[in-house]
Amino acid sequence: MTDPTSRPAPCAGLRIGDQAPDFTARSTTGQIRLSDFRGQWLILFSHPADFTPVCTTEFVALARNAAAFEKRRCALMALSVDSLFSHFAWLRLIRDRFGLEVRFPIVEDPTLVIGRAYGMVSAFDTDSATVRTTFFIDPEGTIRAMTCYPANVGRSTAEMLRILDSLQAVDAEDALAPANWVPGEPLLRQPEATLDRVYAADGEADWFLGDAGKKGAQ
Ligand code: BEZ
Repeated sequence: MTDPTSRPAPCAGLRIGDQAPDFTARSTTGQIRLSDFRGQWLILFSHPADFTPVCTTEFVALARNAAAFEKRRCALMALSVDSLFSHFAWLRLIRDRFGLEVRFPIVEDPTLVIGRAYGMVSAFDTDSATVRTTFFIDPEGTIRAMTCYPANVGRSTAEMLRILDSLQAVDAEDALAPANWVPGEPLLRQPEATLDRVYAADGEADWFLGDAGKKGAQ
């Protein structure tokens, strides 16, 4: 039996396919509302704290790759429990130290009200230091993918772009992205799910893989 006092896992509150909860908040680019980002892709991601080593490397990596996200019509939005003025001071330090201006918004969430709505922190957490959650939200405001990393492992910008590329490609082609797929490689077709197709595939028990799937699985 489940212990009712046990801590729910991060991301427990939302599922792929859910509508991203709307919110209005102060950010480094002014007051923002999540629903104002409809019509474009949005990556909403939390980080444990400003002025910490791993988080700083993530922001430097994202700032360096800002054009790659723009090219894909995808906005970035960061969020942490730190105050707006802490965000400003940290961005200033990043600019002075690395010569990079972080121009995407960083939301302040001092009461953890947004973090809790998204399941980025559990109701039992007393601080936010376990949070490194990423939501991929499509132009209709639907959550399409989520990742959760621990505080001591930084996210991969390349993997964030790969997930985004995969989601955009499978939407455009009504197809499936196989393991390790990157743009330029073939996508998989939805298998034809009819008994006639199954019986017609004489001596072909792997009929459901399709040509691209057979190649990829080799
Ligand atoms: C970091 O970003 O370096 C970090 C943040 C919270 C806990 C541990 C490390």
